[in-house]
Amino acid sequence: MSQLFAGKNKSGLTRELIEALFPMFEEASAGAIAVDRQTRITWINHSYSQLLGLDDPAQAVGRPVQQVIPQTRMPEVVETGKPLLLDIMEHNRQQLVVTRLPYYDDKGEIEGAVAFVLYDDLQPLTPLVSKYRRLHQDLAAARKALARKARGTRYSLGDFVGASPAALEVKRRARLAAGRDMPVLLLGETGTGKEVLAQAIHTVSARADRPFVGVNVAAVPENLLEAEFFGVAPGAYTGADRRTRDGKFQLANGGTLFLDEVGDMPLPLQAKLLRALQEGEIEPLGSNKVVQVDVRVIAATSQNLEAMIAQGSFRSDLYYRLNVLEITIPPLRDRLADLGVLCEALIGEICEGQGLRGEITDAGVAALGSYDWPGNIRELRNVLERALTMSEDGDLLDADAIFKVLQRSRSRAVSAMVPRSVRPLARIMAEAEAQAIEEALLVSRGNRTRAAKLLGISRSVLYEKLAKMS
Ligand SMILES: Nc1ncnc2c1ncn2[C@@H]1O[C@H](COP(=O)(O)OP(=O)(O)OP(=O)(O)O)[C@@H](O)[C@H]1O
Ligand SMILES: [Mg+2]
Repeated sequence: MSQLFAGKNKSGLTRELIEALFPMFEEASAGAIAVDRQTRITWINHSYSQLLGLDDPAQAVGRPVQQVIPQTRMPEVVETGKPLLLDIMEHNRQQLVVTRLPYYDDKGEIEGAVAFVLYDDLQPLTPLVSKYRRLHQDLAAARKALARKARGTRYSLGDFVGASPAALEVKRRARLAAGRDMPVLLLGETGTGKEVLAQAIHTVSARADRPFVGVNVAAVPENLLEAEFFGVAPGAYTGADRRTRDGKFQLANGGTLFLDEVGDMPLPLQAKLLRALQEGEIEPLGSNKVVQVDVRVIAATSQNLEAMIAQGSFRSDLYYRLNVLEITIPPLRDRLADLGVLCEALIGEICEGQGLRGEITDAGVAALGSYDWPGNIRELRNVLERALTMSEDGDLLDADAIFKVLQRSRSRAVSAMVPRSVRPLARIMAEAEAQAIEEALLVSRGNRTRAAKLLGISRSVLYEKLAKMS
């Protein structure tokens, strides 16, 4: 202890104070340490070196404190001269409550700092600590969201969950696609993760810090598609803006353009898209000037494009342009081995968003395996979400909980036949519509084109209604 303040001048007031208080603090604390002006350790007591897991406290003396305690904020205290009276520091997954004080020589110059670990057992501080943890998690989530927002994407390759051979092959091809600047075609049923994968490829590619722009061809009314893609020149038509309106191609310039539901593109637009891809230039509506664009296209569809080519509703030359690298995402029923990891990831996500806790038992996962998942991972997510909402907080989802939800979604059609009390007509009609849409999607195994046909409405109207329902 005598070498603690081995400085040349022993008359500094603050130091005297600290020297007087030190034995008391050291006694009461779970560890104590001192550093000099250069933040080298001058002294460390036995209990602190034990807490840090050091074999020999003497070896720590003379070393920069950051080397011994990576999370330390002692340098900040020495630098600013301001004490940190209460701070939580993580060391080896342990959270310590520490107080750090600078000390001065008699000229008022900083000589170093001392720190005490006030608690190594945070049990009595649980409410404070859990608040700290929550804030920490919120901060991490907000940072992640910000980074994703800056890129325009929410997903990276790690978000495509799966360890089955089929899922690994998808990821291998996605990584390959990310490394090369070529068009990619994603094929897969509804809810298999085409959007997830498209964003992930962009995020891992050299274009990651440029925009990712998605356009859902099926959701845009046919007469607006051209403007949506290529933009509009000022005053192109009566009522058009005086200003130029950029299309998705211009917005995606330098980055990635995601053409979702590309099978829904009308033939005349297919020709224009082909030209844009071949020439790397586009012509905004009502303009006679061409604009150079540099985009990588990732297209996706749940339709069978080859069959559409045979029927004459999709151009084969466009198909070959888009399909330089094809990735087929298998339906969930063909990779049931991934149910376990998917459940873990999805439950984690759902709970994080709603402040719930939840887990699923092996029997629960097995129960999920008995179903054939026409809506794929989107449907799995919905089922888990419903099961979690119905269970008590912290409950394990077992086979019973899963069957309850699965049966309910299957028997909804039947329960609708039971007369219910009279309600406003608008509500009854909205419910009937929602139910008709759900049934159509079920019958068409999630194929929205078929569902729209069955319902006698256009795809864009179906999309509009789906968006209102979710
Ligand atoms: N491999 C996966 N791992 C984790 N979550 C996934 C995976 N695939 C899909 N999801 C989740 O399932 C939902 C649907 O995914 P996504 O929107 O990418 O499907 P899609 O193939 O584009 O469907 P659609 O054809 O209906 O547009 C999203 O909530 C997504 O986060
Ligand atoms: Mg999609």
